[in-house]
Amino acid sequence: MPLNKRILTGDVISNREVAEGHFLMAVKLPFAFETPLPGQFIMLRIKGKSEPFLGRPLSVYAFQRRREKVICEVLYRVVGKGTQQFSLLKFGSTVEVLGPLGRSFTIFPSEKDVILIAGGMGIAPMTYVAGHYRGSKAGSKMKMICYTGARSMDDLVALERMEVLCKTKVSTDDGSRGYHGMVTDLFKNDFPTLNIKKTVIYACGPRPMLKALAAILEDQPVICEVSLEERMACGVGVCLGCVTAIKDDRGNKQYKRVCKEGPVFNIKDIMWD
Ligand SMILES: Cc1cc2nc3c(=O)[nH]c(=O)nc-3n(C[C@H](O)[C@H](O)[C@H](O)COP(=O)(O)OP(=O)(O)OC[C@H]3O[C@@H](n4cnc5c(N)ncnc54)[C@H](O)[C@@H]3O)c2cc1C
Ligand code: FES
Repeated sequence: MPLNKRILTGDVISNREVAEGHFLMAVKLPFAFETPLPGQFIMLRIKGKSEPFLGRPLSVYAFQRRREKVICEVLYRVVGKGTQQFSLLKFGSTVEVLGPLGRSFTIFPSEKDVILIAGGMGIAPMTYVAGHYRGSKAGSKMKMICYTGARSMDDLVALERMEVLCKTKVSTDDGSRGYHGMVTDLFKNDFPTLNIKKTVIYACGPRPMLKALAAILEDQPVICEVSLEERMACGVGVCLGCVTAIKDDRGNKQYKRVCKEGPVFNIKDIMWD
């Protein structure tokens, strides 16, 4: 458990609805807050609120460290009590932030083509990965494509920032924008055109989407890391509430904590059923 991680108090500096039920929140944090690596998350909680008592895990969407100012942005969809309460926060509201937490994506400094696959709110960590690559010397010239899917065009959020960072390809389940169907099918159509030995794939989204991606990549010699969004209670490896079945080196089943050994795993190690 990262006992060295402290819960830091932050001030909400903006929290705006970017699409119906979807919010972008920026939090000013003390300088001591570590710079998150792509794929890491925070546990966010409203200071002084006893209900819900537990923080909620949210991926880092953007992060800036300037002089004495640290700003962490999260992008979230309102799905229940915790996120509903986040949506009511205003400029100056106080929150508690634990993080950055979890295992990050592997970043490749060498010449690779980067494929990002985002389902729904999976766009949040994928944007931070894209921003990280684009901000690095090697990554500024990398070929990068983001496949992003949502139920309908109203659920396609934060595309503008991604479009600045890389080429994007869009799908919707109802066909209201882009490819009509699942984002994994859109990706599958392009898969034969990839130079897979030179490609690294990162993905985040609902479990069925990641499972479908695993089926496409089965037996393919391509690097693919995925971020799982299990339900979490403590976020720091103590409660065992987030365990998932992973294959060990011999292919045997073992349970790993998504908050601690994950949320990022090699797609080939995950046992889906
Ligand atoms: C590592 C990690 C990163 C995440 N990053 C983001 C992010 O960047 N943006 C974002 O919008 N969400 C993200 N999530 C999901 C987010 O944590 C949940 O939506 C949130 O905790 C729900 O809290 P709530 O109190 O609003 O809902 P609750 O009242 O706890 O639950 C309401 C409904 O949402 C479902 N739910 C709760 N947690 C999850 C979950 N983890 N995955 C799928 N369904 C869930 C419940 O089953 C229930 O149906 C992330 C989750 C993890 C584990
Ligand atoms: S959420 Fe408690 S161990 Fe992962």
